[in-house]
Amino acid sequence: MLAATAERVITRLFIRSNSCKYFGLQISRSLGSCDKDKKKKMSRKFCVGGNWKMNGDQKSIAELCKVLTAGPLDPNAEVYVGVPAPYLIYVRSLLPSSINVAAQNCYKVEKGAFTGEISPAIIKDTGASWVILGHSERRQIFKESDELIAEKVEHALAAGLKVVACIGETLEERESDKTQEVVARQMCAIAQKVKDWTNVVIAYEPVWAIGTGKTATPEQAQEVHAYLRQWLTENISKEVSATLRIQYGGSVTGANAKDLAKKPDIDGFLVGGASLKPEFVQIVNARQ
Ligand code: PGA
Repeated sequence: MLAATAERVITRLFIRSNSCKYFGLQISRSLGSCDKDKKKKMSRKFCVGGNWKMNGDQKSIAELCKVLTAGPLDPNAEVYVGVPAPYLIYVRSLLPSSINVAAQNCYKVEKGAFTGEISPAIIKDTGASWVILGHSERRQIFKESDELIAEKVEHALAAGLKVVACIGETLEERESDKTQEVVARQMCAIAQKVKDWTNVVIAYEPVWAIGTGKTATPEQAQEVHAYLRQWLTENISKEVSATLRIQYGGSVTGANAKDLAKKPDIDGFLVGGASLKPEFVQIVNARQ
């Protein structure tokens, strides 16, 4: 008992320190879907997000919002759309309140001399309530570091936004067997800044699957999701591990969503290309 408590304290100390030691954690539990897995999964509301990226104009956005409004969308799914910042107010005015509006990025402070940036306060003022942070395009093209992303997550949560925090390995990292090491490192940076996980959704998006048409197989995705769940159990808590939603992202389509959605640790999707098409409705309804 004492030893277990000490171990937990030490684990927490590691999490708060800069040197995270979670690389190479082995998956020890069975990956099969037993009744217990099913129960846990049911307690996590299915969550599907669209990431429109830098696409759309007023006309195409109005058409897309019409399609989403008509749905019908599974009432048991939580839905958000990630919108280019100048259209946040517009999209909020076009969609029913059951569909959440998200920004695709934000900065780590409330206001000030940060030309070109937007803050969680500004996002909230538009009526949007979610933000996507740490997308691989932010990490790779705009060179956002694990630390900066974690600081953004911290500030966005403090400001009252729901946060989708993205993680995932590149093809090179996967091929050199570093997938677990990379997602653990990314999780570790985020975990150092998050005290309450209630308003966090993790999106596992292997970079090699984004916009490439190469979806991870349900088994490949499940393997990493199960690893993340175990990482959460060992480094945060059993409760967070059982309740935190982990979305899969990377070439999700109407055709592959149903099989991915069957996996015990996949709690929804972050969808790029297909979220600009009527097919997004099918993806939202993948669990029906
Ligand atoms: P994709 O993008 O569905 O077009 O692969 C996913 C994402 O970037 O979130």
